[in-house]
Amino acid sequence: MIGAGRVGKNHSRALTRHVSGSEIVALVDPVEAVRAETAAEFGIEYQFASLEEALDKVEFDGVVITTPTPTHLPLTQLAAEHGKHVFLEKPMALNLRECDEIIAAVEKNGVLLQLGFMRRFDPEFVAAWERIEAGEIGTPMMIKSNTHGPGLPPPWARDLRTSNGMLAEVNSHDWDTTRWLMGSNHQRVYTEVANFKGAANNVDTPNFYDNVLVNIKFESGGLGLISGVCPCGYGYDARAEIIGDKGIMQIGELKGQAVIVCTNRDQGLITPITRTWPQRFQWAYIYELEHFTECIRTGKQPKVGGADGRWAVAGVLAGTRSFLEERPVYLSEILNGETH
Ligand SMILES: NC(=O)c1ccc[n+]([C@@H]2O[C@H](COP(=O)([O-])OP(=O)(O)OC[C@H]3O[C@@H](n4cnc5c(N)ncnc54)[C@H](O)[C@@H]3O)[C@@H](O)[C@H]2O)c1
Repeated sequence: MIGAGRVGKNHSRALTRHVSGSEIVALVDPVEAVRAETAAEFGIEYQFASLEEALDKVEFDGVVITTPTPTHLPLTQLAAEHGKHVFLEKPMALNLRECDEIIAAVEKNGVLLQLGFMRRFDPEFVAAWERIEAGEIGTPMMIKSNTHGPGLPPPWARDLRTSNGMLAEVNSHDWDTTRWLMGSNHQRVYTEVANFKGAANNVDTPNFYDNVLVNIKFESGGLGLISGVCPCGYGYDARAEIIGDKGIMQIGELKGQAVIVCTNRDQGLITPITRTWPQRFQWAYIYELEHFTECIRTGKQPKVGGADGRWAVAGVLAGTRSFLEERPVYLSEILNGETH
């Protein structure tokens, strides 16, 4: 396990408590206090400040990389060169050159690469995809996908220079699911952003935004909308709506728990909503890591890999350029350097 922060803890929990046949041999994080706390919580025996040290001292089959985006390329290269399979958190990298170098490193060394797009393993999203594939709503014409998160991400993750900002940190999942559920690549995007709460949260990084809407045209001719709000105050909210030529499908709901209370007929029903992403996607995180360990055991290719991660990064870059230059941006500008 590389990284003992928010996701390092989340994935350590999933692996140690739910994924049988796997073991976290060592935890790697340069910050000793974070490392010690996470290792103690999940009973991880070995702890190291760097991947180099872990490679030198212990035996293992693969790495789960849960570190900030700028570290994804060097860590994946190092792991791949030592024959370790790689589970890599989103966003895959900061730009397409880095994505290509990641793909080249895993291909050259014959190791597996799985991207951390856990919605591809979420029971509701998977059921929706299967029913779209079965033709239940006909040909997908339009998709709306939102990710609204309760808390500001860590400082590195909200700075355009170190993470590509919220479109990457929060909405990477929407870039992937809109492409997956529509069965088509993004062709052109137009983005508007707004900053409502930055000052109150003492955020003064350049071009910071906490609200974003992206209009999408797909290669299929379909349309899409990605909505991001972070911090949104009311909880964690990830939902999607797909309209096909035969009907409509909605995925997810605001209500987070089955326990509903009524103590006052004027106040009405009190229904708790999902509070955090670890809660909303707890089974998806378990199933994605189960899939990774199964792929290592059987040698089969992960369901979601480098090409999907690269498309999501291309979407982030197009969406970012769109609001910075205040114009629609074609994906081909990002992918092939074409001008329109
Ligand atoms: N899939 C999801 O739902 C989801 C949710 C949140 C974040 N993420 C992604 O997970 C990654 C980490 O995010 P986070 O919120 O946990 O960040 P975080 O800042 O909470 O934790 C990152 C940890 O990595 C450590 N680290 C930094 N460089 C390292 C290195 N070279 N080797 C080992 N450890 C190193 C840091 O000390 C820190 O403890 C990012 O790519 C982020 O986009 C995914």
